[in-house]
Amino acid sequence: MILPANDSGAVKWQSPSNIALVKYWGKRPIQIPQNPSISFTLSNAFTQTSIDYRYDHMLKDGPKIDFYFEGKEKPAFAKRIIRFIESLKDTFTWLSHCHLHIDSTNSFPHSSGIASSASAMSALALGLCDIAQQIEGKVWEETVFLQKASNIARLGSGSASRSVYPDLAIWGTHHSFQGSSDNYAMQYSHDIHERFLDFHDDILIISPKEKSVSSTIGHQLMENNPYAATRYDQAHKNLEEIVQAMKANDMDSFGRIVEEEAMTLHALMMASKPGYMLMQPNTIAAINTIRAYREKTGTPVYFTLDAGPNIHLLYPNDVAKNVHAFRESSLKPLCYNHTIIEDHVGKGPKKLV
Ligand code: DP6
Repeated sequence: MILPANDSGAVKWQSPSNIALVKYWGKRPIQIPQNPSISFTLSNAFTQTSIDYRYDHMLKDGPKIDFYFEGKEKPAFAKRIIRFIESLKDTFTWLSHCHLHIDSTNSFPHSSGIASSASAMSALALGLCDIAQQIEGKVWEETVFLQKASNIARLGSGSASRSVYPDLAIWGTHHSFQGSSDNYAMQYSHDIHERFLDFHDDILIISPKEKSVSSTIGHQLMENNPYAATRYDQAHKNLEEIVQAMKANDMDSFGRIVEEEAMTLHALMMASKPGYMLMQPNTIAAINTIRAYREKTGTPVYFTLDAGPNIHLLYPNDVAKNVHAFRESSLKPLCYNHTIIEDHVGKGPKKLV
């Protein structure tokens, strides 16, 4: 039996969402990506999660978990969270003796259609690693702490592994990136041109509806996708090239790769067996509008998509004024209830308590 250094306490972490530039799509057990990915860490779209814990050595079949989302019980979310925490009992043996009260809130509206698993699972992983330090009476060095948190976050949701770092993060082994791993992400801001370190990402909410095919099913469908092997090779190549482009301030190559990745992701969905489509008519209208504006004005403004219909509008800060005028007049009318969430590259998670 371990004797906890602290037998009760509370932690609270804020962790942001991220947007992949080179996408993770396809995985093998357990949560190992089929290809490496890179993302911008965001700032305004985040989850805050507080965890109150109480160690009780009489409790043997724990953890006992109460989960609240925005102050209310939320059985659908609770199920995934509880399953995830249960799966960590071998890593954190103290979990079997713990009562956990978890409260989570998102900065973005629940009905916005923004995927929240990256921010939610990373905030939870950071909180659990923090509790591990308190119960085990250890203080890990920051890089060690973040690597552990990224590893745990990955088990909750692959993309969450990248959210624990500021700026840009790479997840998945790639021979050109020393230290890259399938088990956890690493920060990659080193040598990146400063224009990419305060990039804008405006999220155009085309539809707030729940997706017809979840990411979990989407990843599974990659197993029988006839283009899978080619796709995984392409991702390796695109990762190398997009990092070169961001180092060299080569905006055109950056934009070409980002858009190729978004189109490929959705093409893979359409080519799955069975095929499906998550883009909506206004997704396509927005893509065409962005491309026409770029061609006409030469403004470096690009789009990417996650596994849904919403558009992420990406551009450097030096063109923000013109892009905002364009966005308001030409893109806002295509959005559901004219909803746009303004975000930008951010500095990663924060410990609040
Ligand atoms: C298209 O991380 O949501 O956003 O590991 O099953 O939780 P799970 O999947 P998830 O997949 C993200 C897919 C993506 C691309 C990306 O973020 O790299």
